[in-house]
Amino acid sequence: MKMRAAVLEGFGEPLAVQEVELAEPRAGEVLVRLHACGVCHTDLYTASGADPSGYAPTVLGHEGAGVVEAVGPDVGSLAVGDRVVTLFSPQCRECVHCLDPRTNLCMAIREEQNKGHLPDGTTRISRDGEEIRSFMGCSTFAEYTVMPEIALAKVSPEAPFEHACLFACGLSTGLGAAINTAAVRSGSTCVVFGAGMVGLGAVAGCRLQGAERIVCVDLSPQRLELARGQGATDLLEGGEGTVERILELTDGFGADYTFEATGNVAVMRQAVEAARMGWGLCTVAGVAGKGETLDVVPRLLITGRRIAGSSFGGVKGRDQVPVLVDRYLAGEIDLDPFVSHRIGLDEVNRGFELMEAQDGIRSVIEFA
Ligand SMILES: NC(=O)c1ccc[n+]([C@@H]2O[C@H](COP(=O)([O-])OP(=O)(O)OC[C@H]3O[C@@H](n4cnc5c(N)ncnc54)[C@H](O)[C@@H]3O)[C@@H](O)[C@H]2O)c1
Ligand SMILES: [Zn+2]
Ligand SMILES: [Zn+2]
Repeated sequence: MKMRAAVLEGFGEPLAVQEVELAEPRAGEVLVRLHACGVCHTDLYTASGADPSGYAPTVLGHEGAGVVEAVGPDVGSLAVGDRVVTLFSPQCRECVHCLDPRTNLCMAIREEQNKGHLPDGTTRISRDGEEIRSFMGCSTFAEYTVMPEIALAKVSPEAPFEHACLFACGLSTGLGAAINTAAVRSGSTCVVFGAGMVGLGAVAGCRLQGAERIVCVDLSPQRLELARGQGATDLLEGGEGTVERILELTDGFGADYTFEATGNVAVMRQAVEAARMGWGLCTVAGVAGKGETLDVVPRLLITGRRIAGSSFGGVKGRDQVPVLVDRYLAGEIDLDPFVSHRIGLDEVNRGFELMEAQDGIRSVIEFA
């Protein structure tokens, strides 16, 4: 079938919205008609050429929500009409990692996904016979996508698409960092560095876990106000001296839990140093630049601080994204402030510009 999609033709170039060909779903695959898709830093990172593992041509986008339009052979868990959220982090429910509660890093299709292929090593998108690779296994800057069933979470039919798509990436990452990775205890003191989609999700996750005090650190006063709306009790403008200020706020000890959601290694170090001795846990969700390292004084670890990394918030997508969506539908999370701009697919490059200007949290593409 023909569809419109935003193609990255070459690094550093604007995306070119055009008609491409999409093949039918094969065994274990599903055709999804997209209704909404968030525009994320990771898309821009690849478009810019900064990502050393990036490739072109490809259809970007990975924060999709839509409806199952058709299923290929051997698809058991999804049917036509189901509402779904795309998962760049799949869940096969069979591999050694899926069977272990300690991780969400499914091994089933990693290699082919990283190469821009579907699990069978081919692509479904093409143009005049030339293959166009898929991005993060999703390619959701398009009217339709074909994805493996294991990379789609079936969510409530009540969930509005423009909010459901937020669960595909940063929001679940932040929520999960607090709920799964750190498993914040009620009554705790938490510090969240960064008030983008991930950090704001972490603030909301700490609140849902019953944290008593939630300090949010960011450089932007507007973003700090959004953090207050998600449950932050203290707002700090970041920079040098942040660790000292957190120690002052916590009787000199530091926080029970800290979260890093900026991707800046200097901030990661602050997040480790702001965790308290004895049991302070620093959860790193931000993605650092290639080759960058985290500088930590080992004594901080000997004295009981721990550091954990968190990919997609430790969320096992098919099992847990629907639960998070239900909590949102039950009124536990307010997502309205996160959708700052609604744009059409043709305006996808404007979505990048808005992001670079730090104008709002998410631009969401709505498909007619
Ligand atoms: N682990 C995962 O699975 C996963 C998933 C999605 C995103 N990420 C990563 O999480 C990070 C955050 O993503 P996002 O979409 O929220 O990004 P974002 O750019 O919207 O937010 C980052 C925030 O950090 C703030 N910041 C920058 N420097 C700071 C400093 N010195 N002190 C305090 N705050 C500072 C910025 O003002 C901004 O509000 C990125 O590194 C992203 O790549 C990780
Ligand atoms: Zn994303
Ligand atoms: Zn798996």
